[in-house]
Amino acid sequence: MLKITGKMDLNSIDFYMEIEAPHVARKWKPGNFVILMLHEKGERIPESVYSVRDGRIGMFIRRHGKTTLELYHRFKVGDYIYAISGPHGREFPIKHYGTVIYASDAVCGHAENASFTQELKKYDNYVISIQTFETGKEVYPEEFLAEKHADEHYVTTLDGSAGVKGHYTDLISKIISERRVDLVLTGGSLAGMFKASELTKRHGIPNYALVRTIMVDGTGMCGSCRVFYGGAVRFACVDGPVMNAHLIDWEDVMRRDKRFIEEQEKAKNLFLSKIIAR
Ligand SMILES: Cc1cc2nc3c(=O)[nH]c(=O)nc-3n(C[C@H](O)[C@H](O)[C@H](O)COP(=O)(O)OP(=O)(O)OC[C@H]3O[C@@H](n4cnc5c(N)ncnc54)[C@H](O)[C@@H]3O)c2cc1C
Ligand code: FES
Repeated sequence: MLKITGKMDLNSIDFYMEIEAPHVARKWKPGNFVILMLHEKGERIPESVYSVRDGRIGMFIRRHGKTTLELYHRFKVGDYIYAISGPHGREFPIKHYGTVIYASDAVCGHAENASFTQELKKYDNYVISIQTFETGKEVYPEEFLAEKHADEHYVTTLDGSAGVKGHYTDLISKIISERRVDLVLTGGSLAGMFKASELTKRHGIPNYALVRTIMVDGTGMCGSCRVFYGGAVRFACVDGPVMNAHLIDWEDVMRRDKRFIEEQEKAKNLFLSKIIAR
C-alpha cells in the first residue's frame, strides 16, 4: 500500500497527485512511466512522472473516465492506493543535442515537458518549452509549468485568451523558420503529435514523441499497445513510450485509441451515477 502525500487541482479537469513510491523514485529516468492500481482488483492505469523527490513521485492526472474519477473523488492526502508498478518503458537518452523544443498540449505531455526540460538542461541544451492549453482559465499554476527549467517558455492558448494564440505546432512552425532547432520532443494529444511529426519531417528535424497507447500489462506481453513503427510491429510499453515520431503510423494509433469508447463511457456514467446517488 502506498500513501498519498499531495493532491491539488491544476485546472478544471487535471490534478496533481504525489504518492510515496521509493522503489520507483530510486530508478526513474526520463521516458519511464508508472502503472497505478487503486485496489487489488482495480484497472491498471499508466501515468507519466512529473517529479521525483524524497522517495515520492508527482504526477499530473486528467479526470478522464472511471478510474481517474475514482482517484480524484475517493482518495485524499493520507489515504493509500494498492500499488504502483514501474518504472516501465525505455529510458530516453538525455545528452547534449543543442537547441531542443519540448512541446505539449495535454496532461501527460505537460508532466514530461517539465521533467524532460529539467533533465535536458543538465547537459547544456538550450531548451524551448511550449505548453498549449484550450483557454487562459485552463493554464496550470505557475509552479507546475516547465517555465522555471527552460531557457525560453511559451504558453499558447487555442482561443488566444492567454499567451500566444494557437496550438504549439503554430509556434514550432514559426521558430523553425527563424532558427536552427536540433530536436523536437512532443507529448499530449495524439492529433497534436501527428501534426508536429508531419511538420518536423518536412523540415528534416528529428522528432521524438510520447506515444500514448492503451496499455494493459506494460511489459510487452499483452499486445494492447502495439504500434506500426517504420513498417515493423513494436510495443510502446517496452520499445517506447518515447519513440521516433517519423516512424509511427499515427492514423493507426488514433484508430486503436478509440476501440473501447463504448465500455469507457458506460463505466464512467455508472461511476458518476453512484457519486450523485450518495
Ligand atoms: C505511457 C503513458 C503515459 C500516460 N501518462 C498520463 C499522464 O501523465 N496523465 C494522464 O492523465 N494520463 C496519462 N496517460 C493516460 C491514462 O493512462 C488514461 O487517462 C487512464 O488510463 C484513463 O483511465 P480511466 O479509467 O480514468 O478512463 P477510461 O475511460 O478508461 O479512458 C479514457 C481515455 O484514456 C485512455 N486510456 C484508457 N485506458 C488506458 C490504458 N489502459 N492505457 C493508456 N491509455 C488509456 C484512452 O485514450 C481512453 O479513451 C498515459 C498513458 C500512457 C500509455
Ligand atoms: S501494454 Fe501490453 S504489450 Fe504493451
